[in-house]
Amino acid sequence: MPKPPFASKSGGSATVVIGNKSIELPISRGTIGPDVVDVRKLYSDGDVFTYDPGFTSTASCESAITYIDGDEGVLLYRGYPIEQLAEHSDFIEVCYLLLHGDLPSADQLKTFRNAITRHTMVHEQISMFFRGFRRDAHPMAVMCGVVGALSAFYHDSTDINDPMQRTIASHRMIAKMPTIAAMAYKYSIGQPFIYPQNNLNYSENFLRMCFAVPAEEHKSNPVLARALDRIFILHADHEQNASTSTVRLAGSSGANPFACIAAGIACLWGPAHGGANEAALKMLEEIGHVSRIPEYVARAKDKNSGFRLMGFGHRVYKNYDPRAKVMQQTCHEVLDELGIRNDPLLQVAMELEKIALNDPYFVEKKLYPNIDFYSGITLKALGFPTSMFTALFALARTVGWIAQWAEMIEDPSQKIGRPRQLYVGAPKRDYVPVHKR
Ligand code: ACO
Repeated sequence: MPKPPFASKSGGSATVVIGNKSIELPISRGTIGPDVVDVRKLYSDGDVFTYDPGFTSTASCESAITYIDGDEGVLLYRGYPIEQLAEHSDFIEVCYLLLHGDLPSADQLKTFRNAITRHTMVHEQISMFFRGFRRDAHPMAVMCGVVGALSAFYHDSTDINDPMQRTIASHRMIAKMPTIAAMAYKYSIGQPFIYPQNNLNYSENFLRMCFAVPAEEHKSNPVLARALDRIFILHADHEQNASTSTVRLAGSSGANPFACIAAGIACLWGPAHGGANEAALKMLEEIGHVSRIPEYVARAKDKNSGFRLMGFGHRVYKNYDPRAKVMQQTCHEVLDELGIRNDPLLQVAMELEKIALNDPYFVEKKLYPNIDFYSGITLKALGFPTSMFTALFALARTVGWIAQWAEMIEDPSQKIGRPRQLYVGAPKRDYVPVHKR
């Protein structure tokens, strides 16, 4: 995976004054977006650390993969706007783009598609591994375990210093993630695993592995498969979010890629990250009818209620999440295709969106619908139980995690991630034997 010919440029310097000492810090300039003040020498020259819990003002790396402008509502993969990719591309082509930096030629795409298709089966012994889980295990618990266990099955692609092994590991994970997610689902409902089928595309294959049963013929629906493919595109990468940073941090120690992606899955599981679409759907179900929206909006505005409108607001987007627009359209397409014309959840969602977008509280705080607002309704209509929502997110985000992990491994300035701290514990003191305490 060659690194694209982009690199930061010098952008002058900033001066920090600590006591009577003045320290000159270089500023680096990217292609677009805010410059960064390079604070690497601050500790050696100034004997201070920077403090930024939650990393709200900290760039942890240089990256040429994904760009977000939260104020303008822009999301670019390798420079291409998400709206254009969602309309004209497909998930496999987007995977190639994220991994390689450029759109593929027809031949490159064919070879890549073929490589992914040929890696979709999992080692047969993995099905035994599944059977060790309780039936009622959450699919994300199963995903964490099984993806981590891949390193025990594919020893020939765990040497991170071998570019060929890194590529094979990448192909394996992108290809096998739908199989593993579908197996987690089938296991939870007590149905037999469905093997992948190579004449189907990525999303058709996944839908079949989830919803086909051996007793019946399964016919794929191209509209639903395309909608799912678009959902995968929208979730494929999102620069240095919590799970991606987790993957990078795990990988910075030299851990194998399967273990790193398992770490990303664990982080994604949290309700503030991958679990938000489940929470948004639950809230819409709880509201139940448009007549109850004002009551919920009032609660969301009341600081003492502790209630927030799920699917609204984003740490980075202070404008309409560009993915939410595509998601809304995809939601309509899926409901139309399935003949769900007057879905009460969709009616509540649309009315809630209208009311919130015109309410001064939400306008002033720049709280817009995020991708999770419409994805829950769409995934539910496609037939997925809420417990699978985050597993689908993990499936789609795998390519982003891998692209970011590979970029880090290939970066000559990469070091093990090792944050420092502001120590506020007890100062040095002497041990007191237990009988004297
Ligand atoms: N409903 C009501 N008020 C809100 C909401 C909301 N959904 N989100 C933020 N606010 C208010 C806060 O109360 C706060 O008000 P204040 O300034 O008067 O104290 C202000 O807006 C800023 O909120 P913060 O929590 O400081 O903003 P932050 O950027 O840290 O949080 C977050 C972003 C966590 C996404 C938040 O908007 C939220 O909780 N949203 C609901 C959950 C959700 O939809 N999460 C999905 C995120 S997208 C994703 O992970 C793919």
